[in-house]
Amino acid sequence: MSVDVATSGERDTFVTQRSRALEGEVSIGGAKNSVLKLMAACLLAEGQHVLANVPDISDVSLMCELLEAMGVTVTRADHRLVIDVPAELNTEAPYHLVERMRASIVVLGPLLGRFGTARVALPGGDDFGPRPIDMHLRALESLGATFSTAHGDISGTAELLKGTEVVLEYPSVGATENVLMAAVRAKGRTRIVNPAREPEISDLVEFLNQMGARVGWSGDRLAVDGVERLAPAPSGNGYRVIPDRIEAATFLAAVGMCGGSVFLRHAVAEHMTMLIRKLSEMGMHIVIDEAGLRATVNQRLASADISTLPFPGLATDYKPFLVSMLTTAAGVGIVTENIFTGRFRYIDELRRMGADIRTEGHHAVVRGVERLSGAPVRAHDIRAGAALVVAGLAATGETEVTGAAHIDRGYEDLAGKLAGIGAPISRR
Ligand code: EPU
Repeated sequence: MSVDVATSGERDTFVTQRSRALEGEVSIGGAKNSVLKLMAACLLAEGQHVLANVPDISDVSLMCELLEAMGVTVTRADHRLVIDVPAELNTEAPYHLVERMRASIVVLGPLLGRFGTARVALPGGDDFGPRPIDMHLRALESLGATFSTAHGDISGTAELLKGTEVVLEYPSVGATENVLMAAVRAKGRTRIVNPAREPEISDLVEFLNQMGARVGWSGDRLAVDGVERLAPAPSGNGYRVIPDRIEAATFLAAVGMCGGSVFLRHAVAEHMTMLIRKLSEMGMHIVIDEAGLRATVNQRLASADISTLPFPGLATDYKPFLVSMLTTAAGVGIVTENIFTGRFRYIDELRRMGADIRTEGHHAVVRGVERLSGAPVRAHDIRAGAALVVAGLAATGETEVTGAAHIDRGYEDLAGKLAGIGAPISRR
Protein backbone atom coordinates (compact mmCIF):
# COMPACT_ATOMS: atom_id res chain seq x y z
CA MET A 1 0.00 0.00 0.00
CA SER A 2 1.50 3.35 -0.97
CA VAL A 3 1.35 6.45 1.22
CA ASP A 4 -0.47 9.36 -0.31
CA VAL A 5 1.32 12.27 1.38
CA ALA A 6 1.81 15.31 -0.81
CA THR A 7 5.47 16.11 -1.04
CA SER A 8 6.67 19.66 -0.73
CA GLY A 9 5.57 21.73 -3.71
CA GLU A 10 3.09 19.14 -4.94
CA ARG A 11 -0.37 20.57 -4.22
CA ASP A 12 1.12 21.56 -0.91
CA THR A 13 -0.87 24.77 -0.50
CA PHE A 14 -4.40 25.69 0.58
CA VAL A 15 -5.53 28.98 -0.93
CA THR A 16 -8.39 30.85 0.71
CA GLN A 17 -10.29 34.10 0.19
CA ARG A 18 -12.52 35.89 2.64
CA SER A 19 -15.74 33.91 2.93
CA ARG A 20 -19.35 34.94 3.13
CA ALA A 21 -21.46 33.31 5.85
CA LEU A 22 -21.23 29.49 5.64
CA GLU A 23 -24.38 27.48 4.98
CA GLY A 24 -25.28 23.83 4.53
CA GLU A 25 -24.12 20.53 5.93
CA VAL A 26 -20.79 18.82 6.44
CA SER A 27 -20.21 15.18 7.30
CA ILE A 28 -17.74 14.46 10.10
CA GLY A 29 -15.50 11.45 9.44
CA GLY A 30 -13.97 8.82 11.73
CA ALA A 31 -11.55 9.94 14.44
CA LYS A 32 -7.86 9.85 13.55
CA ASN A 33 -6.84 9.45 17.17
CA SER A 34 -9.14 6.48 17.57
CA VAL A 35 -8.59 4.55 14.35
CA LEU A 36 -4.80 4.53 14.71
CA LYS A 37 -5.12 2.81 18.10
CA LEU A 38 -7.78 0.36 16.92
CA MET A 39 -5.42 -0.63 14.10
CA ALA A 40 -2.70 -1.31 16.67
CA ALA A 41 -5.15 -3.30 18.79
CA CYS A 42 -5.72 -5.67 15.84
CA LEU A 43 -2.15 -6.94 16.44
CA LEU A 44 -3.49 -8.62 19.58
CA ALA A 45 -5.37 -11.33 17.66
CA GLU A 46 -4.72 -13.54 14.68
CA GLY A 47 -7.40 -13.41 11.96
CA GLN A 48 -9.35 -10.91 9.90
CA HIS A 49 -10.38 -7.60 11.49
CA VAL A 50 -12.68 -5.11 9.78
CA LEU A 51 -12.84 -1.41 10.66
CA ALA A 52 -15.48 0.93 9.21
CA ASN A 53 -15.80 4.73 9.09
CA VAL A 54 -12.04 4.94 8.55
CA PRO A 55 -10.98 8.42 7.39
CA ASP A 56 -8.96 8.71 4.20
CA ILE A 57 -5.99 10.49 5.80
CA SER A 58 -2.28 9.96 5.45
CA ASP A 59 -1.70 8.94 9.09
CA VAL A 60 -3.92 5.91 8.42
CA SER A 61 -1.77 5.14 5.35
CA LEU A 62 1.33 5.31 7.55
CA MET A 63 -0.19 2.99 10.13
CA CYS A 64 -1.07 0.59 7.28
CA GLU A 65 2.59 0.67 6.22
CA LEU A 66 3.71 -0.02 9.76
CA LEU A 67 1.37 -3.01 10.13
CA GLU A 68 2.47 -4.30 6.73
CA ALA A 69 6.14 -4.02 7.76
CA MET A 70 5.24 -6.40 10.58
CA GLY A 71 3.71 -8.96 8.23
CA VAL A 72 0.05 -7.89 8.35
CA THR A 73 -2.00 -7.63 5.13
CA VAL A 74 -4.19 -4.53 4.88
CA THR A 75 -6.83 -3.76 2.26
CA ARG A 76 -8.41 -0.32 2.19
CA ALA A 77 -11.51 0.73 0.27
CA ASP A 78 -14.65 2.80 0.85
CA HIS A 79 -13.63 3.95 4.32
CA ARG A 80 -13.11 0.36 5.45
CA LEU A 81 -9.96 -1.46 6.43
CA VAL A 82 -9.64 -5.23 6.28
CA ILE A 83 -6.67 -6.17 8.44
CA ASP A 84 -5.40 -9.77 8.21
CA VAL A 85 -3.13 -10.56 11.12
CA PRO A 86 -1.07 -13.76 10.81
CA ALA A 87 -0.06 -16.10 13.65
CA GLU A 88 3.52 -14.86 13.64
CA LEU A 89 4.59 -11.24 13.30
CA ASN A 90 7.80 -9.32 12.93
CA THR A 91 7.66 -7.44 16.24
CA GLU A 92 9.77 -4.47 15.16
CA ALA A 93 8.63 -0.93 14.31
CA PRO A 94 11.37 0.72 12.25
CA TYR A 95 12.57 4.33 12.65
CA HIS A 96 11.65 5.48 9.14
CA LEU A 97 7.96 4.88 10.00
CA VAL A 98 7.93 5.85 13.69
CA GLU A 99 9.72 9.08 12.87
CA ARG A 100 6.91 10.05 10.50
CA MET A 101 4.16 9.27 13.00
CA ARG A 102 4.61 9.40 16.77
CA ALA A 103 1.42 7.42 17.32
CA SER A 104 3.34 4.34 16.11
CA ILE A 105 4.48 3.92 19.71
CA VAL A 106 1.08 2.36 20.53
CA VAL A 107 2.16 -0.92 18.92
CA LEU A 108 4.41 -1.47 21.95
CA GLY A 109 1.61 -2.57 24.33
CA PRO A 110 -0.14 -5.03 21.99
CA LEU A 111 3.15 -6.62 20.85
CA LEU A 112 4.26 -7.11 24.45
CA GLY A 113 0.81 -8.36 25.39
CA ARG A 114 0.70 -10.99 22.67
CA PHE A 115 4.32 -11.93 21.98
CA GLY A 116 6.20 -10.79 25.10
CA THR A 117 8.69 -8.95 22.90
CA ALA A 118 8.79 -5.72 20.90
CA ARG A 119 11.38 -3.42 19.43
CA VAL A 120 10.18 0.06 18.54
CA ALA A 121 12.24 3.01 17.35
CA LEU A 122 12.15 5.85 19.86
CA PRO A 123 10.05 8.73 18.56
CA GLY A 124 11.76 12.12 18.51
CA GLY A 125 10.31 15.48 19.57
CA ASP A 126 7.95 17.35 17.29
CA ASP A 127 6.68 20.79 16.53
CA PHE A 128 5.13 21.28 19.91
CA GLY A 129 8.14 20.26 21.93
CA PRO A 130 9.59 17.13 23.53
CA ARG A 131 7.27 14.11 23.59
CA PRO A 132 8.65 11.68 26.19
CA ILE A 133 7.34 8.11 26.64
CA ASP A 134 8.55 7.61 30.21
CA MET A 135 5.00 7.05 31.51
CA HIS A 136 4.32 4.40 28.86
CA LEU A 137 7.43 2.51 29.93
CA ARG A 138 6.86 2.83 33.69
CA ALA A 139 3.29 1.59 33.32
CA LEU A 140 4.37 -1.42 31.24
CA GLU A 141 7.20 -2.11 33.71
CA SER A 142 4.69 -2.35 36.52
CA LEU A 143 3.06 -5.22 34.60
CA GLY A 144 6.45 -6.97 34.45
CA ALA A 145 8.01 -5.77 31.18
CA THR A 146 11.67 -4.77 31.07
CA PHE A 147 13.21 -2.33 28.60
CA SER A 148 16.58 -1.49 27.19
CA THR A 149 17.59 1.10 24.64
CA ALA A 150 20.26 0.79 21.97
CA HIS A 151 20.83 2.35 18.56
CA GLY A 152 17.76 4.58 18.90
CA ASP A 153 15.39 1.68 19.53
CA ILE A 154 13.60 0.60 22.64
CA SER A 155 13.40 -3.15 23.17
CA GLY A 156 10.90 -4.62 25.59
CA THR A 157 10.50 -8.15 26.86
CA ALA A 158 8.05 -9.76 29.23
CA GLU A 159 8.06 -13.45 30.05
CA LEU A 160 4.80 -13.07 31.88
CA LEU A 161 2.74 -9.92 32.25
CA LYS A 162 0.99 -9.87 35.62
CA GLY A 163 -2.00 -7.76 36.50
CA THR A 164 -1.39 -5.16 39.20
CA GLU A 165 -2.31 -1.59 40.17
CA VAL A 166 -0.84 0.80 37.60
CA VAL A 167 -0.82 4.43 38.68
CA LEU A 168 -0.39 7.06 35.97
CA GLU A 169 0.87 10.27 37.53
CA TYR A 170 -0.76 12.13 34.62
CA PRO A 171 -3.63 10.81 32.44
CA SER A 172 -1.53 10.38 29.30
CA VAL A 173 -3.57 9.21 26.32
CA GLY A 174 -0.76 7.15 24.76
CA ALA A 175 0.40 5.60 28.06
CA THR A 176 -3.17 4.59 28.91
CA GLU A 177 -3.58 2.95 25.50
CA ASN A 178 -0.28 1.09 25.68
CA VAL A 179 -0.83 -0.28 29.17
CA LEU A 180 -4.42 -1.18 28.39
CA MET A 181 -3.45 -3.16 25.31
CA ALA A 182 -0.81 -5.07 27.28
CA ALA A 183 -3.03 -5.64 30.33
CA VAL A 184 -5.80 -7.33 28.32
CA ARG A 185 -3.40 -10.30 27.94
CA ALA A 186 -1.81 -10.13 31.42
CA LYS A 187 -2.47 -12.74 34.07
CA GLY A 188 -5.05 -11.54 36.57
CA ARG A 189 -6.56 -8.11 37.21
CA THR A 190 -4.98 -4.76 36.36
CA ARG A 191 -6.37 -1.55 37.81
CA ILE A 192 -5.34 1.58 35.94
CA VAL A 193 -5.52 4.54 38.29
CA ASN A 194 -5.82 8.00 36.69
CA PRO A 195 -6.21 6.79 33.09
CA ALA A 196 -6.93 9.18 30.24
CA ARG A 197 -10.71 9.37 29.74
CA GLU A 198 -10.86 10.79 26.20
CA PRO A 199 -13.69 9.40 24.00
CA GLU A 200 -11.01 7.68 21.92
CA ILE A 201 -10.02 5.65 25.01
CA SER A 202 -13.63 4.55 25.47
CA ASP A 203 -13.71 3.55 21.79
CA LEU A 204 -10.59 1.42 22.30
CA VAL A 205 -12.13 -0.19 25.42
CA GLU A 206 -15.27 -1.04 23.43
CA PHE A 207 -13.25 -2.49 20.54
CA LEU A 208 -11.08 -4.59 22.88
CA ASN A 209 -14.18 -5.92 24.63
CA GLN A 210 -15.64 -6.91 21.27
CA MET A 211 -12.38 -8.83 20.70
CA GLY A 212 -13.05 -10.77 23.90
CA ALA A 213 -11.19 -8.59 26.41
CA ARG A 214 -12.70 -7.84 29.82
CA VAL A 215 -12.25 -4.16 30.45
CA GLY A 216 -14.60 -1.96 32.45
CA TRP A 217 -14.73 1.51 33.95
CA SER A 218 -14.96 1.61 37.69
CA GLY A 219 -15.59 5.28 38.39
CA ASP A 220 -12.58 7.08 36.93
CA ARG A 221 -10.47 3.93 36.88
CA LEU A 222 -10.10 1.12 34.40
CA ALA A 223 -10.30 -2.49 35.55
CA VAL A 224 -8.87 -5.09 33.17
CA ASP A 225 -9.22 -8.85 33.69
CA GLY A 226 -6.59 -10.49 31.51
CA VAL A 227 -7.72 -13.22 29.10
CA GLU A 228 -5.74 -16.04 27.43
CA ARG A 229 -6.86 -15.33 23.93
CA LEU A 230 -8.43 -12.55 21.87
CA ALA A 231 -10.15 -12.85 18.49
CA PRO A 232 -11.21 -10.34 15.83
CA ALA A 233 -14.37 -8.41 16.78
CA PRO A 234 -17.42 -9.96 15.07
CA SER A 235 -17.26 -8.06 11.83
CA GLY A 236 -20.69 -7.61 10.19
CA ASN A 237 -20.14 -4.30 8.47
CA GLY A 238 -16.99 -3.71 10.51
CA TYR A 239 -16.35 -1.98 13.82
CA ARG A 240 -17.37 1.65 13.34
CA VAL A 241 -14.79 4.21 14.46
CA ILE A 242 -16.26 7.11 16.49
CA PRO A 243 -16.60 10.51 14.76
CA ASP A 244 -13.67 12.92 14.95
CA ARG A 245 -14.42 15.59 17.54
CA ILE A 246 -11.39 17.63 16.44
CA GLU A 247 -12.55 17.68 12.83
CA ALA A 248 -15.93 18.83 14.16
CA ALA A 249 -14.19 21.60 16.13
CA THR A 250 -12.52 22.74 12.91
CA PHE A 251 -15.87 23.33 11.21
CA LEU A 252 -17.30 24.96 14.33
CA ALA A 253 -14.39 27.40 14.20
CA ALA A 254 -15.06 28.11 10.53
CA VAL A 255 -18.68 29.00 11.35
CA GLY A 256 -17.47 31.02 14.34
CA MET A 257 -15.19 33.14 12.16
CA CYS A 258 -17.32 33.44 9.01
CA GLY A 259 -20.80 33.37 10.55
CA GLY A 260 -23.71 31.39 9.08
CA SER A 261 -25.46 28.18 10.00
CA VAL A 262 -24.03 24.71 9.35
CA PHE A 263 -25.17 21.22 10.34
CA LEU A 264 -22.33 18.90 11.41
CA ARG A 265 -23.66 15.44 10.61
CA HIS A 266 -22.38 12.66 12.93
CA ALA A 267 -20.75 15.09 15.40
CA VAL A 268 -21.28 13.72 18.94
CA ALA A 269 -22.09 16.48 21.41
CA GLU A 270 -21.17 14.51 24.53
CA HIS A 271 -17.63 14.13 23.23
CA MET A 272 -17.37 17.93 23.10
CA THR A 273 -19.30 19.18 26.12
CA MET A 274 -16.70 21.71 27.30
CA LEU A 275 -16.08 23.01 23.79
CA ILE A 276 -19.80 23.52 23.24
CA ARG A 277 -20.06 25.40 26.55
CA LYS A 278 -17.11 27.61 25.62
CA LEU A 279 -18.44 28.38 22.15
CA SER A 280 -21.88 29.15 23.57
CA GLU A 281 -20.23 31.56 26.02
CA MET A 282 -18.61 33.24 22.99
CA GLY A 283 -21.99 33.67 21.30
CA MET A 284 -22.33 30.61 19.06
CA HIS A 285 -25.80 29.08 19.06
CA ILE A 286 -25.60 25.27 19.07
CA VAL A 287 -28.55 22.91 18.72
CA ILE A 288 -27.91 19.22 19.34
CA ASP A 289 -29.87 16.34 17.89
CA GLU A 290 -29.28 12.64 17.39
CA ALA A 291 -27.84 13.01 13.91
CA GLY A 292 -25.35 15.73 14.80
CA LEU A 293 -25.37 19.37 15.74
CA ARG A 294 -26.20 22.70 14.15
CA ALA A 295 -24.01 25.73 14.78
CA THR A 296 -25.31 29.21 14.04
CA VAL A 297 -23.48 32.52 14.37
CA ASN A 298 -25.17 35.80 13.49
CA GLN A 299 -22.85 38.31 15.11
CA ARG A 300 -19.21 38.88 15.99
CA LEU A 301 -18.14 36.41 18.68
CA ALA A 302 -17.19 37.64 22.15
CA SER A 303 -13.78 36.75 23.62
CA ALA A 304 -13.37 34.22 26.42
CA ASP A 305 -10.52 32.80 28.45
CA ILE A 306 -9.33 29.31 27.53
CA SER A 307 -7.38 26.76 29.53
CA THR A 308 -6.55 23.31 28.13
CA LEU A 309 -6.92 20.19 30.26
CA PRO A 310 -7.21 16.43 29.81
CA PHE A 311 -10.74 15.16 29.04
CA PRO A 312 -13.37 16.16 30.07
CA GLY A 313 -11.55 19.52 30.04
CA LEU A 314 -10.97 21.59 26.90
CA ALA A 315 -8.67 19.54 24.65
CA THR A 316 -5.31 20.95 23.63
CA ASP A 317 -6.25 19.94 20.08
CA TYR A 318 -9.10 22.48 20.12
CA LYS A 319 -6.83 25.31 21.15
CA PRO A 320 -5.51 26.44 17.73
CA PHE A 321 -9.14 26.79 16.56
CA LEU A 322 -10.14 28.73 19.65
CA VAL A 323 -7.12 31.03 19.22
CA SER A 324 -8.09 31.64 15.57
CA MET A 325 -11.60 32.55 16.71
CA LEU A 326 -10.26 34.88 19.41
CA THR A 327 -8.19 36.81 16.87
CA THR A 328 -11.36 38.42 15.50
CA ALA A 329 -13.64 38.20 18.55
CA ALA A 330 -14.65 41.32 20.50
CA GLY A 331 -12.42 41.80 23.54
CA VAL A 332 -9.40 40.07 25.04
CA GLY A 333 -8.98 36.34 25.73
CA ILE A 334 -6.27 34.73 27.82
CA VAL A 335 -5.25 31.29 26.63
CA THR A 336 -3.35 28.87 28.86
CA GLU A 337 -1.81 25.71 27.43
CA ASN A 338 -1.35 23.04 30.08
CA ILE A 339 -0.70 19.91 27.99
CA PHE A 340 1.96 20.72 25.37
CA THR A 341 3.63 23.88 26.56
CA GLY A 342 5.42 24.44 23.24
CA ARG A 343 2.18 24.39 21.26
CA PHE A 344 2.13 28.10 20.34
CA ARG A 345 4.37 28.12 17.31
CA TYR A 346 1.63 28.92 14.80
CA ILE A 347 0.95 32.19 16.61
CA ASP A 348 3.76 33.85 14.65
CA GLU A 349 1.86 32.85 11.50
CA LEU A 350 -1.38 34.37 12.82
CA ARG A 351 0.53 37.56 13.61
CA ARG A 352 1.57 37.70 9.95
CA MET A 353 -2.15 37.89 9.24
CA GLY A 354 -2.57 40.89 11.54
CA ALA A 355 -3.58 39.08 14.75
CA ASP A 356 -2.76 40.86 18.00
CA ILE A 357 -1.33 38.11 20.23
CA ARG A 358 1.27 38.28 22.97
CA THR A 359 2.74 35.08 24.42
CA GLU A 360 4.35 34.63 27.81
CA GLY A 361 5.47 31.10 28.66
CA HIS A 362 2.46 28.87 28.24
CA HIS A 363 0.02 31.78 28.13
CA ALA A 364 -1.18 33.85 25.20
CA VAL A 365 -3.12 37.08 25.35
CA VAL A 366 -5.29 37.49 22.26
CA ARG A 367 -6.80 40.91 21.58
CA GLY A 368 -9.50 40.66 18.93
CA VAL A 369 -9.04 42.78 15.79
CA GLU A 370 -11.82 43.80 13.38
CA ARG A 371 -10.24 41.99 10.41
CA LEU A 372 -7.35 39.68 9.64
CA SER A 373 -5.49 40.30 6.43
CA GLY A 374 -4.56 37.47 4.07
CA ALA A 375 -0.89 36.48 3.90
CA PRO A 376 1.33 33.55 2.97
CA VAL A 377 1.70 31.38 6.09
CA ARG A 378 3.04 27.92 6.90
CA ALA A 379 1.42 24.94 8.65
CA HIS A 380 3.76 23.25 11.14
CA ASP A 381 1.36 20.62 12.48
CA ILE A 382 -2.05 19.19 11.72
CA ARG A 383 -4.28 21.28 13.96
CA ALA A 384 -2.32 24.53 13.76
CA GLY A 385 -2.36 24.16 9.97
CA ALA A 386 -6.12 23.66 9.85
CA ALA A 387 -6.59 26.62 12.20
CA LEU A 388 -4.65 28.83 9.76
CA VAL A 389 -6.87 27.66 6.90
CA VAL A 390 -9.94 28.62 8.93
CA ALA A 391 -8.40 32.00 9.81
CA GLY A 392 -7.76 32.59 6.10
CA LEU A 393 -11.51 32.40 5.49
CA ALA A 394 -12.00 35.43 7.73
CA ALA A 395 -9.11 37.46 6.27
CA THR A 396 -9.29 40.09 3.54
CA GLY A 397 -7.55 39.15 0.29
CA GLU A 398 -5.81 35.85 -0.30
CA THR A 399 -4.19 33.54 2.24
CA GLU A 400 -1.82 30.77 1.19
CA VAL A 401 -1.21 28.04 3.74
CA THR A 402 1.78 25.92 2.70
CA GLY A 403 2.72 22.67 4.41
CA ALA A 404 -0.62 21.10 3.48
CA ALA A 405 0.89 17.62 3.91
CA HIS A 406 0.72 18.22 7.68
CA ILE A 407 -3.00 18.92 7.39
CA ASP A 408 -3.57 15.84 5.19
CA ARG A 409 -2.25 13.70 8.03
CA GLY A 410 -5.49 14.26 9.89
CA TYR A 411 -8.09 15.66 7.46
CA GLU A 412 -9.87 14.01 4.58
CA ASP A 413 -10.56 16.58 1.88
CA LEU A 414 -10.62 19.66 4.14
CA ALA A 415 -10.82 21.97 1.11
CA GLY A 416 -13.70 20.02 -0.47
CA LYS A 417 -15.69 19.93 2.77
CA LEU A 418 -15.22 23.67 3.40
CA ALA A 419 -16.07 24.48 -0.22
CA GLY A 420 -19.24 22.39 0.21
CA ILE A 421 -20.52 24.88 2.81
CA GLY A 422 -19.65 27.89 0.68
CA ALA A 423 -16.03 28.70 1.55
CA PRO A 424 -13.83 30.07 -1.25
CA ILE A 425 -10.94 27.62 -0.93
CA SER A 426 -8.81 25.59 -3.29
CA ARG A 427 -5.72 23.44 -3.30
CA ARG A 428 -2.68 23.95 -5.49
N1 EPU B 1 3.85 12.87 28.53
C1 EPU B 1 4.99 12.61 29.25
N2 EPU B 1 5.43 11.32 29.30
C2 EPU B 1 4.78 10.31 28.68
C3 EPU B 1 3.63 10.57 27.93
C4 EPU B 1 3.17 11.88 27.87
O1 EPU B 1 5.59 13.50 29.84
O2 EPU B 1 5.24 9.14 28.79
C5 EPU B 1 3.35 14.25 28.45
C6 EPU B 1 3.44 14.81 27.03
O3 EPU B 1 4.72 15.32 26.76
C7 EPU B 1 2.39 15.87 27.05
C8 EPU B 1 1.31 15.26 27.95
O4 EPU B 1 1.97 14.26 28.73
O5 EPU B 1 2.87 17.03 27.67
C9 EPU B 1 0.14 14.67 27.18
O6 EPU B 1 0.54 13.61 26.36
P1 EPU B 1 -0.41 12.38 25.99
O7 EPU B 1 0.38 11.14 26.20
O8 EPU B 1 -1.72 12.52 26.69
O9 EPU B 1 -0.64 12.62 24.44
P2 EPU B 1 -0.34 11.65 23.22
O10 EPU B 1 -0.91 10.31 23.48
O11 EPU B 1 1.08 11.76 22.83
C10 EPU B 1 -2.61 12.20 22.03
C11 EPU B 1 -3.04 12.68 20.68
C12 EPU B 1 -2.70 14.15 20.50
C13 EPU B 1 -3.37 14.93 21.60
C14 EPU B 1 -2.95 14.39 22.97
C15 EPU B 1 -3.64 15.07 24.16
C16 EPU B 1 -2.86 10.76 19.27
C17 EPU B 1 -2.19 10.09 18.15
N3 EPU B 1 -2.39 11.93 19.64
O12 EPU B 1 -1.20 12.36 22.08
O13 EPU B 1 -3.25 14.54 19.25
O14 EPU B 1 -3.00 16.29 21.50
O15 EPU B 1 -3.26 12.97 23.04
O16 EPU B 1 -5.00 14.89 24.07
O17 EPU B 1 -3.83 10.23 19.82
C18 EPU B 1 -3.18 15.46 17.05
O18 EPU B 1 -4.15 14.77 16.76
O19 EPU B 1 -2.72 16.33 16.29
C19 EPU B 1 -2.52 15.27 18.34
C20 EPU B 1 -1.33 15.78 18.60
